Amino acid sequence: MASRTLLRGGDAVLPTGTTRVDLLLEDGVLRVDPPSSAQADEVVDCTGKLIFPGIVDDQVHLRDPGLTQKEDLRTGTTAAAAGGVTTVLEMPNTVPNTTTRAIWEAKNKIAEAKCLVNWGFYMGATPENIDELKAADRRRTPGIKIFIGSSTGDLLVDSQAALERIFAETDLPLCAHCEDESTVRANRQAVQERLGDPPWPIRVHSDIRNEEAAVVSVRRAIDLSTRHDHRFHVLHVSTAGELAEIAQAGPQITAEVCPHHLLFDVGDYDRLGSKVQMNPAIKSATDRAAMWQALAEGKTIQVVATDHAPHTLDEKAADYPASPSGLPALENSLSLLLTHGPANGVTVDRIAAAMCDAPARVWGLVGKGRLEDGYDADVCLVDPAESFTVRNEEQFTKNRWSPWDGETLTGRVVETFVGGNRVFSRSGGTATVNEAIRGRAVRCDHARGGFHATPDGIGLA
Ligand code: DOR
Repeated sequence: MASRTLLRGGDAVLPTGTTRVDLLLEDGVLRVDPPSSAQADEVVDCTGKLIFPGIVDDQVHLRDPGLTQKEDLRTGTTAAAAGGVTTVLEMPNTVPNTTTRAIWEAKNKIAEAKCLVNWGFYMGATPENIDELKAADRRRTPGIKIFIGSSTGDLLVDSQAALERIFAETDLPLCAHCEDESTVRANRQAVQERLGDPPWPIRVHSDIRNEEAAVVSVRRAIDLSTRHDHRFHVLHVSTAGELAEIAQAGPQITAEVCPHHLLFDVGDYDRLGSKVQMNPAIKSATDRAAMWQALAEGKTIQVVATDHAPHTLDEKAADYPASPSGLPALENSLSLLLTHGPANGVTVDRIAAAMCDAPARVWGLVGKGRLEDGYDADVCLVDPAESFTVRNEEQFTKNRWSPWDGETLTGRVVETFVGGNRVFSRSGGTATVNEAIRGRAVRCDHARGGFHATPDGIGLA
């Protein structure tokens, strides 16, 4: 395995802007613009290619352990590698839920055996596990996930007293699924009264999990975060109303949007049915436009993450509401943003900021998210001119389906390096995965993770 790889002649997406410069991946560490005398075991001609920092996807569900009919840490991280994602931060609604230090350690052991890219596991909050949350490994745990509204699985913290304790007594960064339980319940009851017993048409999913549910819950979380001065990240924002709340909040709050909330709206249910059923539900075209604008501006939305949440097609085929919520997106997120970003004011530099740098800073990940001297040699090469059609059968996610099947995208990941090792490459339509490569657990420095307003308005130190 080459320990020194020179990426020559590409356009590197540096923090200071996209620049034609060579990069040396040396013993797992990055060197920008190495001296011409630098020795390399392999030289990669990157002419015409964009070189991104490896993508940090801070919201994925890889289903391992316990739900491995949907995905596992090997297939999920293979899909990540194919999408240029070199670090995944994985959610706690696996089985058993990741709610104790012991379960978290066991999950890390599975990851050491199976993960082709770097990983970090959130601790999941319950109304009773405050002591476990306080005992989390601060050096390797990116943060604590709270389901303030329920979604897939049984994790839920809706009690105000329990939320107050979590915000007051823990000190890792927090993030939450924000959809207000009582609003969702009342909306579901209203649908029941209107339509009778289920099954119901899929589009009522967006009536049940509506804007009000998201806004009420985000407002509640912002209030907790503000009163306790506790760093808080709003996962998967889907409505203009939430953006308005976040815009008023302090700099300890960051937020993210997912490709599906940028690219789908309620008009897509007829075409795609339960394939676009997810929580929070897709909303209106107006909300979609507001998400793009917020992403382009970078003031209320700092991060793009996928919420990669695979289910089998058999599970998805059940009549609503028995069909589960969630869709796979890990291997297509960068291409989706490169394809649709420019027309929506989102540049290549902004994409790298939102998919690499910002998530690394939000979660205090050491050595991640930037092409800078001394950072980890996690990079992905993209051919910005290559168009391709997403095909279910070519997906690496375990169940080989994508809601974007049949869509043509422009800008394709052609090589991915993790810790300086080539884990994925694609040439002439043939994809090669080096199954021998293993990522590493993330290292976190939470004192370094930034949540303070900066002159550029990005809201991160
Ligand atoms: O649609 C979703 N699916 N949203 C979530 O928050 C959870 C996820 C899952 O785990 O299936």
